[in-house]
Amino acid sequence: MWKNKFHISPPSGLLNDPNGLIFWNGEYHVFYQWNPFACEHGAKHWAHLKSTDMVNWQNLPIALSPTDWFDKNGCYSGSAIEKDNKLYLFYTGNVKNNDIRESYQCLAISIDGINFEKKGPVIHNKDIPKEYTKHFRDPKVFKKDGVYKMLLGAQRVDLTGTVIMFSSSNLIDWVFEKEIIKGEFGFMCECPDFIETGDSKALIFSPQGLKADGYLYNNRYQSGYIIRDLTEIEKNNFTELDRGFEFYAPQTFKDECNKNVLIGWMGMPEELDHPSIKEENWVHSLTLPRYLEIFENKILQTPHPNLKKLRKDKIVVENIEVKDYLNLLKYNILGDTYELIVHLDDNFSGDIEIDLRKGKNEKTTFSFDFEQKKASLNRDFSGSGYKGVRKCHLNKLKKIHIFVDRCSVEIFLNNGEEVFTGNIYPNKESLGIEIKGKILFTIPKIEFYKF
Ligand code: FRU
Repeated sequence: MWKNKFHISPPSGLLNDPNGLIFWNGEYHVFYQWNPFACEHGAKHWAHLKSTDMVNWQNLPIALSPTDWFDKNGCYSGSAIEKDNKLYLFYTGNVKNNDIRESYQCLAISIDGINFEKKGPVIHNKDIPKEYTKHFRDPKVFKKDGVYKMLLGAQRVDLTGTVIMFSSSNLIDWVFEKEIIKGEFGFMCECPDFIETGDSKALIFSPQGLKADGYLYNNRYQSGYIIRDLTEIEKNNFTELDRGFEFYAPQTFKDECNKNVLIGWMGMPEELDHPSIKEENWVHSLTLPRYLEIFENKILQTPHPNLKKLRKDKIVVENIEVKDYLNLLKYNILGDTYELIVHLDDNFSGDIEIDLRKGKNEKTTFSFDFEQKKASLNRDFSGSGYKGVRKCHLNKLKKIHIFVDRCSVEIFLNNGEEVFTGNIYPNKESLGIEIKGKILFTIPKIEFYKF
């Protein structure tokens, strides 16, 4: 009842980070961290899917299994790159002997994009620079100015988190280049990444151990970015990528138009009280692919244009007056798998509330408070599962672009200025959508597509 319909989810067991995202030989490849045996962290494999459009996915055999001495306790996260028409996967081999951790940055190569031959470690545990602990993982490999770079999440020996970089001319021999983050970022940084669009550049990573600060950093761990080239970053001007509940360890790649796209894990480490575990023996999904742009020192995220292929049964209503409350049932707008776009007037200066998955005693509420310049997502009444409210500052609200799947919501605001992502576990009869305002106002247009 909660298995998502149009998000990548595991057949059973636990899914976490997206890995090895790449457009290669005319197809998109997505791998993800997967424990096929249980809904808990352990025995990480790389599950594998491909697609020509990022909408219709084909399952492929498991790409990497933790069966070798250098990855026996998990084929941890990593990335993909093309070389000489072959697909190279870089990942972290996690090894634990009597609770002592070892980390190996490993390579696996494929000619057909289905079978991967493990080549073993390219950076050995013993070669981890002495300034860092063995929490050293998640290689993101890319080419910059003719040289291969590998970003890694690392922990300094004083137990603070950072991101470091290695370089290579051939993808096999790697040398330590530098520490990218000089300042302190909690106790560990995971899953680093880097994007460039024109002159704008951003380092993306997932720090662990930031303290909650008002609306910020309210989840267990964070994912965000610093607008900056790969020079050493001293100052903390970190911006969270998502304002909702479950969003972590995102990875980027270039789509067929050479545009940056991001997919994240719609989950959070160490949170395993999701009702799908007990009821359906699976947990977590990946987010939808998001198209990334950098504008005025901010990353904007919008649903990838290919997602329009999901659209069926279009309903458009225009110039709708909302006074107190409007049930969209009247326009046949309801459901548990859909896309809903609410276009507001450019000068909209009211408060608005949208209840999704509304049923008997259940609702998931997005709201905007114009006076306080605050957007929020409330899942206190969503049904089973985790509760809570997340908020962010927003000057103006012009457009609310919502994707609802069976146990998730993703809400993109304006031109992708902010996004709220989260898991909800409502009753399957909770299908209503209601809009409320404090004063009479007109919504110029509502678009709805049932998936
Ligand atoms: C992030 C992470 C990565 C690690 C992987 C293990 O969620 O902890 O740092 O490689 O998950 O599954």
